[in-house]
Amino acid sequence: MNTYPHEFSSVTNALATDGWCVMPDLLSTAQTQALAAECRAMHKARQLTPARVGATRTATPLRGDSTHWFQAGATSVPQQAFTDRLDALRLALNRELMLGLVECESHYAVYPPGAGYTRHIDRLRDSDARVVSAVFYLNEGWQDADGGALRLYLDGGLHRDIYPHAGTLLLFLSAQFEHEVLPATHDRMSIACWMRQRTFGVIG
Ligand code: OGA
Ligand code: MN
Repeated sequence: MNTYPHEFSSVTNALATDGWCVMPDLLSTAQTQALAAECRAMHKARQLTPARVGATRTATPLRGDSTHWFQAGATSVPQQAFTDRLDALRLALNRELMLGLVECESHYAVYPPGAGYTRHIDRLRDSDARVVSAVFYLNEGWQDADGGALRLYLDGGLHRDIYPHAGTLLLFLSAQFEHEVLPATHDRMSIACWMRQRTFGVIG
Protein backbone atom coordinates (compact mmCIF):
# COMPACT_ATOMS: atom_id res chain seq x y z
CA MET A 1 0.00 0.00 0.00
CA ASN A 2 1.21 3.52 -0.83
CA THR A 3 1.64 5.23 2.55
CA TYR A 4 2.22 8.79 1.32
CA PRO A 5 -0.67 11.07 2.22
CA HIS A 6 -2.76 12.13 -0.76
CA GLU A 7 -6.00 13.96 -1.38
CA PHE A 8 -8.16 10.92 -0.68
CA SER A 9 -6.05 9.38 2.13
CA SER A 10 -8.65 9.72 4.86
CA VAL A 11 -11.34 8.26 2.60
CA THR A 12 -9.31 5.26 1.45
CA ASN A 13 -8.16 4.60 5.04
CA ALA A 14 -11.71 4.79 6.43
CA LEU A 15 -13.09 2.52 3.71
CA ALA A 16 -10.33 0.01 4.41
CA THR A 17 -10.95 -0.04 8.18
CA ASP A 18 -14.70 0.65 8.57
CA GLY A 19 -16.10 -0.06 5.10
CA TRP A 20 -17.86 3.30 5.00
CA CYS A 21 -17.16 7.02 5.43
CA VAL A 22 -18.41 10.53 4.77
CA MET A 23 -16.39 13.01 2.68
CA PRO A 24 -17.41 16.66 3.01
CA ASP A 25 -15.42 18.34 0.25
CA LEU A 26 -15.73 16.43 -3.01
CA LEU A 27 -16.88 19.52 -4.93
CA SER A 28 -16.98 23.29 -4.42
CA THR A 29 -20.20 24.93 -3.24
CA ALA A 30 -20.72 26.40 -6.71
CA GLN A 31 -20.32 23.00 -8.38
CA THR A 32 -22.76 21.43 -5.93
CA GLN A 33 -25.26 24.24 -6.50
CA ALA A 34 -25.01 23.76 -10.28
CA LEU A 35 -25.86 20.06 -9.88
CA ALA A 36 -28.78 20.92 -7.57
CA ALA A 37 -30.12 23.49 -10.07
CA GLU A 38 -29.89 21.01 -12.93
CA CYS A 39 -31.54 18.21 -10.94
CA ARG A 40 -34.35 20.53 -9.84
CA ALA A 41 -34.92 21.81 -13.39
CA MET A 42 -34.99 18.29 -14.84
CA HIS A 43 -37.42 17.19 -12.16
CA LYS A 44 -39.68 20.19 -12.90
CA ALA A 45 -39.53 19.37 -16.62
CA ARG A 46 -40.59 15.78 -15.79
CA GLN A 47 -37.36 14.32 -17.13
CA LEU A 48 -36.94 11.97 -14.16
CA THR A 49 -38.76 8.65 -14.24
CA PRO A 50 -40.09 6.51 -11.38
CA ALA A 51 -37.35 4.16 -10.19
CA ARG A 52 -37.44 0.42 -10.72
CA VAL A 53 -35.98 -2.39 -8.62
CA GLY A 54 -33.94 -5.47 -9.48
CA ALA A 55 -32.92 -7.09 -12.74
CA THR A 56 -36.53 -7.25 -13.94
CA ARG A 57 -36.89 -3.48 -13.49
CA THR A 58 -40.38 -3.79 -12.11
CA ALA A 59 -42.26 -0.85 -10.64
CA THR A 60 -42.24 -1.10 -6.88
CA PRO A 61 -43.66 0.28 -3.67
CA LEU A 62 -40.23 -0.37 -2.09
CA ARG A 63 -38.85 2.96 -3.28
CA GLY A 64 -40.53 6.25 -4.09
CA ASP A 65 -37.85 8.17 -5.95
CA SER A 66 -37.62 9.23 -9.58
CA THR A 67 -34.28 9.02 -11.35
CA HIS A 68 -32.28 10.15 -14.35
CA TRP A 69 -29.17 8.15 -15.31
CA PHE A 70 -26.13 10.15 -16.42
CA GLN A 71 -25.41 9.22 -20.02
CA ALA A 72 -21.80 8.64 -21.07
CA GLY A 73 -20.90 11.05 -23.86
CA ALA A 74 -23.83 13.33 -23.04
CA THR A 75 -22.89 14.67 -19.62
CA SER A 76 -23.62 18.30 -18.77
CA VAL A 77 -20.87 20.56 -17.38
CA PRO A 78 -21.96 20.06 -13.74
CA GLN A 79 -22.28 16.29 -14.28
CA GLN A 80 -18.81 16.18 -15.82
CA ALA A 81 -17.28 17.97 -12.81
CA PHE A 82 -18.90 15.37 -10.56
CA THR A 83 -17.88 12.35 -12.65
CA ASP A 84 -14.30 13.65 -13.01
CA ARG A 85 -13.94 13.88 -9.22
CA LEU A 86 -15.53 10.51 -8.68
CA ASP A 87 -13.17 9.00 -11.24
CA ALA A 88 -10.19 10.50 -9.39
CA LEU A 89 -11.51 8.91 -6.21
CA ARG A 90 -12.09 5.60 -8.02
CA LEU A 91 -8.46 5.58 -9.23
CA ALA A 92 -7.21 6.36 -5.70
CA LEU A 93 -9.26 3.42 -4.38
CA ASN A 94 -7.77 1.15 -7.05
CA ARG A 95 -4.25 2.31 -6.23
CA GLU A 96 -4.58 2.13 -2.44
CA LEU A 97 -6.95 -0.79 -1.95
CA MET A 98 -6.57 -2.65 -5.26
CA LEU A 99 -10.30 -2.77 -5.82
CA GLY A 100 -10.18 -3.10 -9.61
CA LEU A 101 -12.97 -0.60 -10.17
CA VAL A 102 -13.40 -0.09 -13.92
CA GLU A 103 -16.30 2.35 -14.15
CA CYS A 104 -18.94 4.40 -12.38
CA GLU A 105 -22.68 4.61 -13.03
CA SER A 106 -24.64 7.54 -11.61
CA HIS A 107 -28.18 8.85 -11.45
CA TYR A 108 -29.99 11.85 -10.09
CA ALA A 109 -32.73 10.92 -7.65
CA VAL A 110 -35.56 13.00 -6.26
CA TYR A 111 -37.63 11.65 -3.39
CA PRO A 112 -40.88 13.62 -3.03
CA PRO A 113 -42.25 14.32 0.48
CA GLY A 114 -43.13 11.08 2.28
CA ALA A 115 -41.19 8.86 -0.13
CA GLY A 116 -38.34 6.59 0.99
CA TYR A 117 -36.49 3.47 0.02
CA THR A 118 -36.96 0.45 2.27
CA ARG A 119 -34.00 -1.36 3.82
CA HIS A 120 -31.93 -2.96 1.06
CA ILE A 121 -28.47 -3.83 -0.22
CA ASP A 122 -27.05 -2.36 -3.45
CA ARG A 123 -25.82 -5.63 -4.92
CA LEU A 124 -28.25 -6.92 -7.52
CA ARG A 125 -29.12 -10.58 -6.98
CA ASP A 126 -27.53 -11.75 -10.21
CA SER A 127 -24.48 -9.47 -10.30
CA ASP A 128 -21.52 -8.66 -8.08
CA ALA A 129 -20.45 -5.73 -10.28
CA ARG A 130 -21.18 -3.04 -7.70
CA VAL A 131 -18.34 -2.72 -5.20
CA VAL A 132 -18.54 0.82 -3.79
CA SER A 133 -21.76 2.81 -3.34
CA ALA A 134 -21.47 6.61 -3.31
CA VAL A 135 -24.31 9.01 -2.57
CA PHE A 136 -23.81 12.74 -3.05
CA TYR A 137 -26.36 15.12 -1.57
CA LEU A 138 -27.66 18.34 -3.11
CA ASN A 139 -29.97 19.88 -0.50
CA GLU A 140 -28.97 23.30 0.74
CA GLY A 141 -30.23 24.38 4.14
CA TRP A 142 -31.42 20.89 5.06
CA GLN A 143 -32.42 20.56 8.73
CA ASP A 144 -32.41 17.28 10.66
CA ALA A 145 -36.10 17.93 11.40
CA ASP A 146 -36.74 17.68 7.63
CA GLY A 147 -36.05 13.91 7.91
CA GLY A 148 -34.72 12.11 4.85
CA ALA A 149 -31.69 10.53 6.52
CA LEU A 150 -29.95 7.63 4.92
CA ARG A 151 -29.92 5.00 7.68
CA LEU A 152 -26.82 2.83 7.38
CA TYR A 153 -27.01 -0.45 9.31
CA LEU A 154 -23.78 -1.40 11.07
CA ASP A 155 -22.74 -4.55 12.90
CA GLY A 156 -24.24 -5.32 16.30
CA GLY A 157 -27.66 -3.83 15.64
CA LEU A 158 -26.26 -0.30 15.43
CA HIS A 159 -27.05 2.24 12.76
CA ARG A 160 -25.91 5.68 11.62
CA ASP A 161 -28.19 8.35 10.17
CA ILE A 162 -26.57 10.51 7.48
CA TYR A 163 -28.57 13.62 6.57
CA PRO A 164 -28.65 14.75 2.93
CA HIS A 165 -26.86 18.10 3.34
CA ALA A 166 -25.56 19.71 0.15
CA GLY A 167 -21.96 18.66 -0.49
CA THR A 168 -21.95 15.52 1.68
CA LEU A 169 -20.62 12.39 -0.03
CA LEU A 170 -21.37 9.07 1.66
CA LEU A 171 -19.33 6.05 0.60
CA PHE A 172 -19.82 2.44 1.64
CA LEU A 173 -19.03 -1.06 0.40
CA SER A 174 -22.04 -2.15 -1.63
CA ALA A 175 -22.00 -5.81 -0.55
CA GLN A 176 -21.62 -5.09 3.14
CA PHE A 177 -24.15 -2.49 4.27
CA GLU A 178 -27.92 -2.62 4.34
CA HIS A 179 -29.41 0.86 4.33
CA GLU A 180 -32.68 2.69 3.86
CA VAL A 181 -33.87 6.17 2.94
CA LEU A 182 -36.23 7.62 5.53
CA PRO A 183 -39.08 9.84 4.34
CA ALA A 184 -38.64 13.60 4.35
CA THR A 185 -40.96 16.58 4.63
CA HIS A 186 -39.96 18.01 1.24
CA ASP A 187 -38.20 17.11 -1.99
CA ARG A 188 -34.88 15.38 -1.34
CA MET A 189 -32.24 15.38 -4.12
CA SER A 190 -29.20 13.13 -4.43
CA ILE A 191 -26.85 11.54 -6.93
CA ALA A 192 -26.52 7.80 -6.37
CA CYS A 193 -23.43 6.26 -7.88
CA TRP A 194 -21.84 2.84 -8.01
CA MET A 195 -18.22 2.01 -8.73
CA ARG A 196 -18.14 -1.28 -10.58
CA GLN A 197 -15.67 -4.09 -11.05
CA ARG A 198 -15.45 -6.17 -14.19
CA THR A 199 -17.60 -9.28 -14.03
CA PHE A 200 -17.29 -12.52 -15.92
CA GLY A 201 -20.10 -14.77 -17.04
CA VAL A 202 -22.88 -12.88 -15.32
CA ILE A 203 -25.10 -10.12 -16.54
CA GLY A 204 -23.57 -6.88 -15.32
C1 OGA B 1 -30.06 3.82 -3.73
C2 OGA B 1 -29.95 4.49 -2.41
C3 OGA B 1 -29.69 6.50 -1.13
C4 OGA B 1 -29.94 7.97 -1.13
O1 OGA B 1 -30.39 4.50 -4.73
O2 OGA B 1 -29.79 2.60 -3.80
O3 OGA B 1 -29.82 3.79 -1.43
O4 OGA B 1 -29.68 8.56 -0.06
N1 OGA B 1 -29.99 5.83 -2.34
O5 OGA B 1 -30.39 8.54 -2.13
MN1 MN C 1 -29.09 1.81 -1.98
